[in-house]
Amino acid sequence: MTRRMHFTLGAIAAMTLSTAAFASEVAPDAVEFGDEGVMTSLTGVAGDPVAGAETFKSRKLGNCLACHANADMSGELFHGDVGPSLDGVADRWEEPMLRAIVANSKQIFTEATIMPGFYSLEVGKHLREDLEGQTILTAQQVEDVVAYLGTLKE
Ligand code: HEC
Repeated sequence: MTRRMHFTLGAIAAMTLSTAAFASEVAPDAVEFGDEGVMTSLTGVAGDPVAGAETFKSRKLGNCLACHANADMSGELFHGDVGPSLDGVADRWEEPMLRAIVANSKQIFTEATIMPGFYSLEVGKHLREDLEGQTILTAQQVEDVVAYLGTLKE
C-alpha cells in the first residue's frame, strides 16, 4: 500500500469518528426537561471542568460573570449581581438540574428570566440576532460548564 493510500484511509476513519460523535449528541430541540432537570448527558462525553471554567468566564461564550459573582474566579474583573452568586451552587442543585439551567433556564425558571438559554434555539432575539438558528454554546461546552459548576461546593 502506498503512503498516499494510508493517508486517505486515515481521513475516512476520522470522518467516520466525527459523524459518530455527532450522532450521539442531543439536538437543541430534543433536550428532555423533567422535574429533576435533564437527566442524560447531551453528548455522552464526560464534561471537563477546566474547559468549563474557560467557557464560563469567556466573554464570547458563557459570559456568566456578566450576571453572576463567583468567588472561585475572584481574579476576574466585573462580577455582575443580576443573578445569584454561584458560590456553593453544587450544594444547591444536582447535576441534572445544573444541566437544565445552563441548557435552557427558561424551562426551569420562567419565560421572563433574563438568563439566556445556552443550548436553545430561542436565545432571545434582542440578545444575539446573529445567533438565530444556532445555540450560544455547543452541547459539549454545556457539559463542560456543568462539570465546572459541579466543583463549586462550600
Ligand atoms: C444576563 C444575565 C445572566 C447570564 C449571562 C447568566 N445568568 Fe445564570 N442566572 C441569571 C439570573 C437572573 C438567575 C436567577 C433566576 C432568575 O431569577 O431568573 C440565574 C440563575 C442561575 C443559576 C441558578 C443559581 C441558584 O443558585 O439557584 C445557575 C446555576 C446559573 N444561573 C448559571 C449560569 C451560568 C453557568 C451562566 C453562563 C453559562 C449563566 N448563568 C449566565 C442571570 C444570568
